[in-house]
Amino acid sequence: MAYLPLPGTPVEELDTPAIVIDLDIAEANIKALQAFATENNVSLRPHMKTGKSPYWALKQIEAGAIGVCAAKVGEAEILAEGGVREILIANQVVGKTKIRRLFGVASRANVTVAVDSHENVAELSEAAQAFGIELGVILEIQTGMMRAGVEPGEAAATLAKAVDGAPGLRFDGVMGYEGGTVFTEGFDQRKKDTLETIDRLLAAADDIEAAGLPVKIISAGGTGTFDITGKVDRVTELQCGSYLFMDAKYLEVFGEHSIPFKTALTVLATITSRPAPGRAVADPGMKAISVELGEPKVVGIEGATVTGMSEEHCTLAVTGAAEGLRAGDKISFLPMHGDTTIAQHDYYYCVRGGILETVVEIAGRGKFM
Ligand SMILES: Cc1ncc(COP(=O)(O)O)c(C=O)c1O
Repeated sequence: MAYLPLPGTPVEELDTPAIVIDLDIAEANIKALQAFATENNVSLRPHMKTGKSPYWALKQIEAGAIGVCAAKVGEAEILAEGGVREILIANQVVGKTKIRRLFGVASRANVTVAVDSHENVAELSEAAQAFGIELGVILEIQTGMMRAGVEPGEAAATLAKAVDGAPGLRFDGVMGYEGGTVFTEGFDQRKKDTLETIDRLLAAADDIEAAGLPVKIISAGGTGTFDITGKVDRVTELQCGSYLFMDAKYLEVFGEHSIPFKTALTVLATITSRPAPGRAVADPGMKAISVELGEPKVVGIEGATVTGMSEEHCTLAVTGAAEGLRAGDKISFLPMHGDTTIAQHDYYYCVRGGILETVVEIAGRGKFM
């Protein structure tokens, strides 16, 4: 049973651990990337692996995005259910059950999906004919991340021709998320590595066009590379996700490099124990804040540092002013990685000026199927 606070509740009265979103900042982040995209003549298709809710997708579309990306069919289902009508599943959807669900979504929204194998093209085409729905298809190109994707060259051109010739499928273009370079430290190095990656994507587009097929979509880009990939003329759209809330890992990566995004997401917590001088314990453990990119930072309290996270406890070293923390006090943490933290919570507590404005369900929680 969830006891949801009412609008108008002061943030410090929220029960914890709770994801708190500063609406002014998140909205400014949405506007800032949209302004960059408009200025650079590139479309925006924000990745909903971050927002995981139609609430954010619709805000991003209202600001000018052409649609959104989803990571899984389950994410696409909650987006379509919430009224999102343009969805790119930037991933492979494989096997009968998933593909039937994919066409369930495609009966309510314009859906495009990424493929990287002939077997997958054949099963998608069979289902498209059975459902009588044309499905947009792009190729995922292996651009250097060594995750999924078909290699540029002959392999990509042959697969594109297979999509084009498959009944029920419409060949739309290529994608290649540069996940291997989004966290590269130092702007110059990141730019060099990213442009090499994007060159592989453009080479695949050239190979496909040389084989006689127009490539309408060239989709790439993460938050760490928005101002590199987004300035490449032939890239038609950006897939950035994390910029929405801006987590601590990306703040570290950008360092002194100027960016128009600020941190909108924190996890509100309560000090639950002061067992010894110099040590405090707070209530979000690893089940409330993900730590795969490192331990969270304490926001705005000098002398409080996270020293350990266990399942349900966060242990802090406290010195100076932070020694004054008492059991029952509220503190805020900035997670190193927003997406995997969000995926562990049921609600966003959205505040403006420190006052709760709305509670938004994280409908995409657990939608990894
Ligand atoms: C396919 C794909 N596109 C885009 C992104 C962009 O994400 P971010 O903005 O967090 O770098 C990701 C991140 O995981 C991704 O997997």
